Order: sequence, then structure tokens, then C-alpha cells
Amino acid sequence: MCWACSVRLEVMRTLHATGYETNAPLEIINWTNEEGSRFAPAMLASGVFAGAFTREFAYSRRDRDGKAFEAELTRIGYKGSEPVGQRKIGAMFELHIEQGPILEAEGKTIGVVTGVQGMRWYEVTVAGQAAHTGATPMHLRKNALLGASRMVEQIHAIAIKHSPDAVGTVGLMEVRPNSRNVVPGEVFFCVDFRHPDEAVLETMEQEFRAALKDTIEPLGLTYEEKRIWDSPAVRFDTEMIGCVRGGAEKAGYLTRDMVSGAGRDAAYIARVAPTTMIFVPCAGGVSHNESESTSFDECGSGAQVLLEAVLAYDRRFG
Ligand code: GLV
Ligand code: MN
Repeated sequence: MCWACSVRLEVMRTLHATGYETNAPLEIINWTNEEGSRFAPAMLASGVFAGAFTREFAYSRRDRDGKAFEAELTRIGYKGSEPVGQRKIGAMFELHIEQGPILEAEGKTIGVVTGVQGMRWYEVTVAGQAAHTGATPMHLRKNALLGASRMVEQIHAIAIKHSPDAVGTVGLMEVRPNSRNVVPGEVFFCVDFRHPDEAVLETMEQEFRAALKDTIEPLGLTYEEKRIWDSPAVRFDTEMIGCVRGGAEKAGYLTRDMVSGAGRDAAYIARVAPTTMIFVPCAGGVSHNESESTSFDECGSGAQVLLEAVLAYDRRFG
């Protein structure tokens, strides 16, 4: 039995044990490719479900080795046959680790998530001239990595300028030909900007584009830049947020309202169904790192609040 089925069975058993009766079918969903780190953009499957992307767009995404998402799904036996959207969602609660440090730092057990911040992803290729490191004088070089490096600094500065809520990151860079004695001729890198307010995100984008022009061109380099993904800020369902808060209070946990810094499938599902999220802490606030860790007790607290919230919601709207 898959983990999702066994979780569903446990939830059903728990409901039955409490004598609770409901006609609403309960499903556990594990959306494919939430991360988007190999096949950009993120939240690909929930995005197709919610109509943000076509299924063909999702299938045609390629990784950095040129492998297509559809072919890779087929290869691992995960390409389903059910038509998209066949199962209607009445409401979706997403339980997740916070992936950040706030809950732990404030000694809170449950994050009552009110929404997801806006995100924009860009891809940039800077082109110069690959040349011999020993034989090419400094003033005659067209070093693509010099331009890209200066952009890393600029992207950091743009986020700092709009802090504390803004973040900006270059997390992937490919240097070509990537040889110790060749001046880099081409650099590809990815940019990730996030902010809860769309207007600020728009300003950050304009500053980024101006910085590209002002930084790259004086170095005798050229560049291509493309925004490959825009996930607008999302506000979750007020009734469901209330059910999470009430569930946490009933279970006796300290809570904190928060906006998700990470992308979430809930952000797309909120377009087609009432949606909200519950956060539990993670050790040291560290995530996207193999040391990521959340204790069984913390997971249990989240599951308890999930149960209370689902029951409260079902009593009102089920
Ligand atoms: C996914 O985890 C993202 O927020 O990028
Ligand atoms: Mn993630």
C-alpha cells in the first residue's frame, strides 16, 4: 500500500473511532513536482490541475540534460491515465513543515498560514568570448563570469533594499566552458525573487532589468533574460484559516499567523477550491538541505490540528 493510502486509512480509522459520520470523501494527495528545481517551474502538477498550465506544457518541460518531464514520468512508471480535473476538490488543507526558522525561534508549535508570497523566476545567459587565460590581456577580455558575478551582487542588493520581506537568490549557475585556463565565454544562471506584495515584486523586476543592462553591457558582453515563471501572491480561504486557528486552540498549541515563503501546491489549488495550510517547525529552520528534520511530536501536532480543522470545516460546509 502506498503511503498516501495508508495515511488515508489511518485518518478514516481515527474518524470512525470518534464516531464521526461524514459523506464527504477524504483524499490524500501527493502532487508531482512541487519543487520545480529539476523541471521548472515549480508546482507543476497542481498548476495543471488548477488550469495555470496546460498538460502539454507540463509534459514538455525539460531538465538541464534535455530530458522531458513526460518521458521521465513514463520511465519511472508515474504517468497516470486519469483525465485531469476528473476529481473535484471541495476543499484542500495542506500540512507542511515551515521550511524556515520563525516558529522555532518564537517557540510556537503551529503556523496558521494565511497565504503564499509572490514569486518570479528568471533565466539569464551572459555571452562573452572564451579565450586563453594566459595570452589574453585583462583589458581585451570579454569575461561572461565577471558580468554574471556582478549580477549576483546586484540581485542580493535589490532584495536587501526591499527587506525585510523581500528575498532574491541566484542558486544555479553554469559556466562555459568551465575550464581553469579559459576565460569564461558564456554563463547561464537562474534568479528567484519573492515578496508578499506584487507591487514590490514588480519594482524588483524593473531594478533587476536595469541592473542587467547597466552591468553587462559596459563589460562588452551581451545577455538574454527571460522571466520563466510568475506565481502571484495568494491569500487563503478565511473560513479555513479560522478552522486551523480554532483546531490549534482546541488542541492547546501556541500559534502564529504567517505567510509561506516557499512555493506551495496550495497556491495553485486556491484558484479552484477553498484552500489553506498548516505549518509545523523544522530544526534550525533549515530546509532544502539534507539535514532537514521535524520531530514525530511536531508532525503529530500538525496532524492533530489537521484533523480538528477538517472536522470543523466538514461540520460547517460538508
Ligand atoms: C519550492 O520549495 C520553492 O519554494 O521554491
Ligand atoms: Mn521545497
